[in-house]
Amino acid sequence: MAIHETEERNGKLRTVMKLEPGERVALCRCMHSKEFPFCDGTHKQLEGNTGPVIIEALKEEPKATEQA
Ligand code: FES
Repeated sequence: MAIHETEERNGKLRTVMKLEPGERVALCRCMHSKEFPFCDGTHKQLEGNTGPVIIEALKEEPKATEQA
């Protein structure tokens, strides 16, 4: 599960998330989620076409080995 913590920086709050490879989160951009900054599906009940921002951490690809 994504680790997230909110901290203050220069007088403003910011949330830092750490994702495992392959993990994904949906962030709200309709500004109506009760779980902000995460999407809780509320956007589906609103007019318009705004949906979440999906962020996915890429899985690490095995490094190619050099052939001698
Ligand atoms: S609840 Fe806001 S984008 Fe989903």
